Amino acid sequence: MQAETIHQLPLAEKASLLSGDGPWHTHAVGGLPAAEVSDGPHGLRTETGVDMVWIPSTCFPTGSALASTWDPSLAGRVAQAIGEEARALGVQCVLGLGVNLKRSPLCGRNFEYLSEDPTLAAVMGGAWVEGIQSTGVSACLKHFAANNQETERREISVEADEAVLRELYLEAFRRIVQRARPWAVMCSYNRIGGVHASQNRWLLTEVLRDEWGFDGMVMSDWDAVHDPVAAVKAGLDLEMPGTDGRSVAALVAAVEQGALSEDEVDAAAARVATFVTRTLPDGRRPASPVRERGITPGAPLDPEQLSALGAVAHHELAREVATAAAVLLRNEGGTLPLDPGGAERIAVFGGYAVTPRIQGGGSAGVGPTMVDSPLEAIRRVAGAGRVSWAQGYPTGSTDYYQEQEPEEQDAEALLAEALAEAREADVLVVFAGLPLVDEQEAFDRDRLDLPAAQTRLLADLARLGKPLVVVLAAGSAAVLDPSWHEKSGAVLLTHLGGQAVGSAAADLLFGLANPSGRLSETWPVRLADTPGIDTFPDHGVARYREGHLIGYRWYDERGLDVAYPFGYGLSYTSFSQDSLSVAAGDDFVEVEVAVTNTGDRAGAEVVQVYLTPPVVAARPRRLAGFAKVHVEPGESRAVRVEIPVRDLASWSPGAGWELAAGDWAVEVGASSRDTRLAGTINLPRRTFEA
Ligand code: GLC
Repeated sequence: MQAETIHQLPLAEKASLLSGDGPWHTHAVGGLPAAEVSDGPHGLRTETGVDMVWIPSTCFPTGSALASTWDPSLAGRVAQAIGEEARALGVQCVLGLGVNLKRSPLCGRNFEYLSEDPTLAAVMGGAWVEGIQSTGVSACLKHFAANNQETERREISVEADEAVLRELYLEAFRRIVQRARPWAVMCSYNRIGGVHASQNRWLLTEVLRDEWGFDGMVMSDWDAVHDPVAAVKAGLDLEMPGTDGRSVAALVAAVEQGALSEDEVDAAAARVATFVTRTLPDGRRPASPVRERGITPGAPLDPEQLSALGAVAHHELAREVATAAAVLLRNEGGTLPLDPGGAERIAVFGGYAVTPRIQGGGSAGVGPTMVDSPLEAIRRVAGAGRVSWAQGYPTGSTDYYQEQEPEEQDAEALLAEALAEAREADVLVVFAGLPLVDEQEAFDRDRLDLPAAQTRLLADLARLGKPLVVVLAAGSAAVLDPSWHEKSGAVLLTHLGGQAVGSAAADLLFGLANPSGRLSETWPVRLADTPGIDTFPDHGVARYREGHLIGYRWYDERGLDVAYPFGYGLSYTSFSQDSLSVAAGDDFVEVEVAVTNTGDRAGAEVVQVYLTPPVVAARPRRLAGFAKVHVEPGESRAVRVEIPVRDLASWSPGAGWELAAGDWAVEVGASSRDTRLAGTINLPRRTFEA
């Protein structure tokens, strides 16, 4: 059965395509096989039949870490690996990537998302979509749209100026839909302008299909459909999960009563059929070399299953990504790298050094195939004899996706024991970070601080005056307390770095790898400075009063200090940027600079191009393009950044998409607040259809 002939089926069969067969499958009808979907953005979450126990898969660094690599080729490789694992498990669609912007650092799902900036989100997200679909497995770009808080996520209504919605909250979706062409998009739970996304015709048909030319399938977020008939009329194709036939019956009745046309059912059914035939081109369900050998919930996979999954190679890729994602935030007096062959006694602290924070909670959870312990990796590199460990602060038993509340642990005793260890050591390395409870779906944080017990340990250790290295696990910004932060020697952000983050951390701490990550979101000095703080999370209606001022745009416009700016990250070497040239073609602004490694070891720089439109456009300065480049010591590399002119347009109700004519300021640098070169480019007025 092909999409073109789906209309020949009986109405009830066509309607059954518009609602899932259970939680993870489409219906097999008319010769179409059932397609299987599975979470999630940084690894497969394929159920085993036992609640919260999934078939082991590679747990890659989460979205916020992936974005911090600023390396789209890496994003493509990760997605390709996830696609290969999906095929090994017989899954046709992975429910990812999430590209909602980080409006507030308090949002509980920020660890899954890429950035506060639509350009970084679009470039990294587009590469991910192309990567996974290169394996024949469908992406499912989500959550469309404006799912920027978890509080009341199913009911909150986002009220934002249409230009803000289009130029920010829809923009990453537009660029990815038009350039990477995902085969599926998932609508979000929330309302926009009072209408649920699942039945918002403006969103799902007028913008997504009519303007952007999306030719794939729209599925709902789980239980996001409130009225299946209204949803189909708005442009939703597949309600997930299925509703045991209730929705199918409602659709059939609506056609029979004239409330829904059979043509509308046919159109949606054809798009579901296209999705199925794109992902199952030979028209039948595939074998699964992993599942065929039997799955025992909670048990590890056998060697043949691991081999079919590509587990060893994917673990190494996860390590490569975690290494490239880590951001060196602070490194006073060359505290890092530590000497792997040195004699200094190293005291390591924290439960997260033993059981690392590798991911966030909720539907993005992955059952890792293996996990590298940071402490074991450090002992492997530096020699076990010189490395001690103390827990230092209470932590829950992190089984990677369900961190139990800390059992009754004697915080005072843990602290005393840690300080005793510290007095015997030369270098102090603390693994700290946000607990799982702060980074999970369906919840938002109400503070940005690290847990008090961690801050207390860090402050007490800082008072000892010894080199203090802090390894931070956080999927979104945290406020670092002055009691230890300004006294620390070094701070390395490892994000929620996936199952191989332990080895990556050790490689970076001892200089076996050179940090090259850059922040994909601003780290504020205090919660009170953050955008929309007076109304986040909103209740009932979320009014995006800050307008275009998201992330660094907010802090820059208000002249606010930040702890660490968007795009920031240190290296063990140094770089200069020279010889700026800017040229404008019909469709691209081309920026070229020379990057020189002025240090004594190889490293990677991220050249960032920020553009400010003529005043008449009344729009803020924004990241317009970037490029990551690896440079050997003493070497100079020419770096070219191509910026689509379309991406510089503003939207207004009258003119639609319009490029402001005049001189655009061009700033090229190493972060949003570290401009190395400046120039201007004069652009003509242009309009764009979509
Ligand atoms: C969840 C999430 C979505 C996920 C889906 C299936 O509620 O919002 O990201 O893919 O349900 O688990």
